[in-house]
Amino acid sequence: EHCKGINGLDKVVLREARGGSAEVYLYGGQVTSWKNIHGEEMLFVSSKAIFKPPKAIRGGIPICFPQFGSHGTLEQHGFARNKVWSIDTNPPPFPANSASNTFVDLILKPSDEDFKIWPHSYEFRLRVALAPGGDLMLTSRIRNTNTDGKPFSFTFAYHTYFSISDISEVRVEGLETLDYLDNLKEKERFTEQGDAITFESEVDKIYLSTPTKIAILDHEKKRTFVLRKDGLPDAVVWNPWDRKAKALADFGDDEYKHMLCVEAAAIEKPITLKPGEEWKGRQELSTVPSSYCSGQ
Ligand code: BG6
Repeated sequence: EHCKGINGLDKVVLREARGGSAEVYLYGGQVTSWKNIHGEEMLFVSSKAIFKPPKAIRGGIPICFPQFGSHGTLEQHGFARNKVWSIDTNPPPFPANSASNTFVDLILKPSDEDFKIWPHSYEFRLRVALAPGGDLMLTSRIRNTNTDGKPFSFTFAYHTYFSISDISEVRVEGLETLDYLDNLKEKERFTEQGDAITFESEVDKIYLSTPTKIAILDHEKKRTFVLRKDGLPDAVVWNPWDRKAKALADFGDDEYKHMLCVEAAAIEKPITLKPGEEWKGRQELSTVPSSYCSGQ
């Protein structure tokens, strides 16, 4: 279903048979809502989010492409999150065994203006799909369509903002003992010690070569998010905490308590595509009751 969202921006609403739903804005190709079959919102969007170009929407799942963060010469997190994507009205079908998925394919291609900033031709196909039962599946396919014979390289992240009850009560499993780059310390390399990750201050880390499954346990809400990823070796964990929150104009002062970004990403080793080559990166989100015991 294609309709108008906040400020008249175009959005697509996906609904699955048992009541799960998702919303995707064409601005940014950005998922801004993912509700489970009970109608509960799983993603955080700031009450101060500005749904208006050129600023990216604060929350949901911004797409960082072709650059994650400040790891390059482009604007922070690249330009894909600030572009208006288009809908492919005749998308390729899903494989036969997953035919009951409801989905939309959004496409981003460079305009002449974009080409001046990043001189490469590409086709970015983002498939947003809801599986029966409500799991949210994002698949990005990026193809080098350069006609000048040149390869290009990029970094990437699904910048997912999870909605949580209280940051002090949440823990993340699947990243313990891994190496990470700390964005708060000049991107120095460290090794995570000990147990599951918990939060008591600002965090901005890029975990390297992580397992394909990461769990975010929210005790108060009795809910565990399970993030599964493919083609995306790294994982970013970000919470601005109080001081940084105050410095963000489109983010409430206390909202850091109710969000956590865990982002499937490819950062340390950029992806390089020759003309004609395609890269695929997937992120699947599901929820399970908190009695669930995680393991790899
Ligand atoms: C995270 C980065 O992914 O995004 C942080 O690691 C950054 O360094 C955060 O502050 C938010 O970025 P932005 O550009 O959306 O404010």
